[in-house]
Amino acid sequence: MSQFDQIVDRKKTQSVKWDTLEATYKQEGLLPMWVADMDFKAPAAVQSAFQTYLNQGVFGYSIVPDSLYDAIISWQKRRHDFTIKKEDILFSSGVVPSIALNVQSYTQPGDTVLIHDPVYPPFAESVEENNRKLVRSKLFTDDKFKMNFAEMERLIQEEDVKLFILCNPHNPGGRVWSKDELQQVGNLCKKYNVIVVSDEIHQDIIYQPKTFTTFQNADPSFKDFSIVLTAATKTFNLAGIKNSMVFIKNPELKQTFEKIQKQNHQNDINTFGMIGTQAAYEGGEAWLNELLDYLKENIDITYNFFQKELPDVKVSKPEATYLMWLDFSAYHLTDKQLEEKLINEAKVVLNPGISYGEQGTQHMRINLACPHSTLKEGLQRIAAAFN
Ligand SMILES: Cc1ncc(COP(=O)(O)O)c(C=O)c1O
Repeated sequence: MSQFDQIVDRKKTQSVKWDTLEATYKQEGLLPMWVADMDFKAPAAVQSAFQTYLNQGVFGYSIVPDSLYDAIISWQKRRHDFTIKKEDILFSSGVVPSIALNVQSYTQPGDTVLIHDPVYPPFAESVEENNRKLVRSKLFTDDKFKMNFAEMERLIQEEDVKLFILCNPHNPGGRVWSKDELQQVGNLCKKYNVIVVSDEIHQDIIYQPKTFTTFQNADPSFKDFSIVLTAATKTFNLAGIKNSMVFIKNPELKQTFEKIQKQNHQNDINTFGMIGTQAAYEGGEAWLNELLDYLKENIDITYNFFQKELPDVKVSKPEATYLMWLDFSAYHLTDKQLEEKLINEAKVVLNPGISYGEQGTQHMRINLACPHSTLKEGLQRIAAAFN
């Protein structure tokens, strides 16, 4: 038995994933397989670091200890062969807040920002809420998600794009962009002086034989015009601690970002965030390796289930992330009908694909980070509604 088989009752824990359903859908008994956090307990090393801090009983303002920088630098080196220095690291209260600060740092109101379609919804929100112009380049989604470099180049030229936000690995598609793909997209951005923000929050949830390449390792020149965002929160199920890192190697870009951070007084971070991140990177590696094996089993269970029980739902195995992209187009339902069928008949809550962009129409994103037994229950419910 794996530690991840344990059913953790998350109801009444102020969980977005579990505790918002009744108010939203006005019914009981729904199984949530949406919001990207996991139904697993965090590593023991993290729990005990929090406990030690709790036990001393004083929760005043804190400084960032050198040991946190060391833990981040060491993690990036040993897991991703990525060399960073203390002076390249800034902190933030989340990757999404960092995206918004990046938009403010490197563009002016009215400037154009490029993202993919489909992609994680807060990319578009951060652009539009900051009164920048949003353009999307459609990913090819036939078999495996692929970038359309020709369309990206056309949009960059025609729309005078200033900033490109990359999701690496890709949510919702589960692609680990190859070094070659990163070189192509990076060279394109370099050619037209487009700054790249690479959201790498899913960098640790990678399934062998795939390996992850950070955007800045794809080519030595890419560090000059890019910002990398990452966190321990997705990897170790710590989303609530609101902590993330911003890696900026170009001193000028760093100065600009720091100025905007300061203007918003967003340069101090939560103490639990620091403690959790350090403890996870220092003591969570064995937990993560076990988690990856467990998630891989969940991917296989899900893939095999759809192939056998519901072959009209087209699926492919993600190379990264614990999310799977489900293609329901064979049923010819509208997005609203599809969502309603899943809620009212299957009694499962998934993320509607359309929220990731137009390319997501007739798709759903399922979160597989739960015990095998919960997953199987959810899959059975879906099959019962569609068969
Ligand atoms: C691509 C991506 N970026 C950012 C986030 C959230 O980051 P944070 O909680 O640090 O704001 C998520 C969460 O699902 C995500 O998938």
